[in-house]
Amino acid sequence: MQEQVINFDLNDEPVSIYADPSLSLLKILRDRFNLLGTKEGCGRGDCGVCTVLLDGKAVNSCLIPAGKVQGRNVLTIEGINGKNQVKAGLMHPLQQAFVEKGAVQCGFCTPGMIMSAWALLQKNPAPSTEEIREAISGNLCRCSGYKQIEEAILQAAKVMTGQL
Ligand code: FES
Ligand code: FES
Repeated sequence: MQEQVINFDLNDEPVSIYADPSLSLLKILRDRFNLLGTKEGCGRGDCGVCTVLLDGKAVNSCLIPAGKVQGRNVLTIEGINGKNQVKAGLMHPLQQAFVEKGAVQCGFCTPGMIMSAWALLQKNPAPSTEEIREAISGNLCRCSGYKQIEEAILQAAKVMTGQL
């Protein structure tokens, strides 16, 4: 498809690229912006490792044509923590909880898991285990087991709501 200008907000910064609008958002993020935290797995919406937020909603970036993000807001794992926190060397409570609870093993699924969890906690700051399970049901993990991941999300929710 013919290349076109695509303007959108990426991790709270306005960006503009000239690209084929039929390329996937995943490809654009990795190849054009070097945002390699968003992983590439199945490429067809089955594994969730490519999850990012589009206007606050968790989506599989491998299924989103780049042209569809025109004028919209994209958040990747690199953007969840805010520049000041990153500069200060601080992890986001979700990242911290994943480490503390042993929810990261090979780590391939982790960015996508955290993005799905982040989307959940934005609309439901104190989710039940069932609600967490539902929110991460599209994210596959082959090694850590889902229990540690659920516990990590529960812990992060408590930290983020001031209960821990
Ligand atoms: Fe996008 Fe698997 S790479 S869902
Ligand atoms: Fe390896 Fe989840 S930690 S796939």
